[in-house]
Amino acid sequence: NARREHWNGHTLTREEVTAQTGIETVYMVSQFEPFITAMFNARNFGLRRGETTTEWNSFQAEVKAGRGRLALLFGPRPAPSQPLPEVYSWANKFRERFFGVSMIDAKPMVDDLRQVKTPYEQKVLEKSVLISSDAHKAGMKATAPGRFEYEVEAAIEQVYLTNGAMSWGYPSIVGSGPNSTILHYGESSRKMEAGDLLLVDAAANYQGLTGDITRTTPVSGKFSPAQKEIYELVLAAQEAAMAVARAGNKTADVEKASEEVIKAGLLKLGLITDAKGDQFRTWYTHGICHWIGMDVHDVGDYEKPLASGMAFTIEPGLYLRQQALNDLPDNPANREFKEKVATAFAKYKDIGVRIEDSFLLTDAGLKRLSSTVPRTVEEVEAWLKPSPTARR
Ligand code: GLY
Ligand code: MN
Ligand code: MN
Repeated sequence: NARREHWNGHTLTREEVTAQTGIETVYMVSQFEPFITAMFNARNFGLRRGETTTEWNSFQAEVKAGRGRLALLFGPRPAPSQPLPEVYSWANKFRERFFGVSMIDAKPMVDDLRQVKTPYEQKVLEKSVLISSDAHKAGMKATAPGRFEYEVEAAIEQVYLTNGAMSWGYPSIVGSGPNSTILHYGESSRKMEAGDLLLVDAAANYQGLTGDITRTTPVSGKFSPAQKEIYELVLAAQEAAMAVARAGNKTADVEKASEEVIKAGLLKLGLITDAKGDQFRTWYTHGICHWIGMDVHDVGDYEKPLASGMAFTIEPGLYLRQQALNDLPDNPANREFKEKVATAFAKYKDIGVRIEDSFLLTDAGLKRLSSTVPRTVEEVEAWLKPSPTARR
């Protein structure tokens, strides 16, 4: 299409696609219907005269025996009163013509394929997370009192593009001071002040794969004692979770291990009064494991035990928000809770800490793909120290 190529540049030919991807058989989208029609009519499509393949033969045998199956990506089932999406009306037309062929949803197959990364995908994901790790390190260097959150965001995303990433994998979260307690803060417009914490949740999309990393750092370079207490607790929860993230366990086991640490820690800090129930949920508000891959929250079955090739996050976080207390239903138990935690809450108010790393489970065990980003208190403070050259 010469006109389209004039506007948008060259469109790959089938031969060029094969050369670039290694995929031998390539059809144009316009050939989809002729291909399907030929396949379910036992007609040759794309084979040379007299040529057959094992795949072709066995498929034809199944169709003849009335066991032909066509897998389509149907997407979410629309309610009966909603308009029929195109794939559904197409399936209806197909059914009228090719009776005896069953149609199945391709999603479970694709999801299974996505849940366990191939060696190639593992390599690309590792590279993707490495770019994101370098970006976080650059973001930390761009953090200082008087600078704006968007300056940190710019420093991070520059590293993505400089390293050949396609884009961000999800919009960067760069929240300082009270913004560190807003889970999906997206404005990046506040001026950072000495004494703030800065929570940065950001990762690149490199070749279609996205990791997920969060670091929380002190804007002035050193954690205050109160910030450090919360930080060390979140870190301990992540460590406990990592210790059980092994083949055979489920993500629920990983979450549980972190919760035990968080409950005991919050009780000790005076931020909850009872470690047995769900009080800790006031401050510990989200799940800490999700699959990563083509989407930052990738598809995958959480009932499946962890296995080699699976990639996921471990991301405990604590968010000390006034609103969390205000939102508790007004009843005697909650009034008593608020009263008892008031002093501790005043000490930790507006502190938001999340520590999130991207992991790959391998035959050799758990691999922290984002291990180059400073994470412990000591590592973070050392990285934030101005270098001798910068001081000059
Ligand atoms: N970046 C989104 C999340 O941490 O799940
Ligand atoms: Mn995450
Ligand atoms: Mn994240």
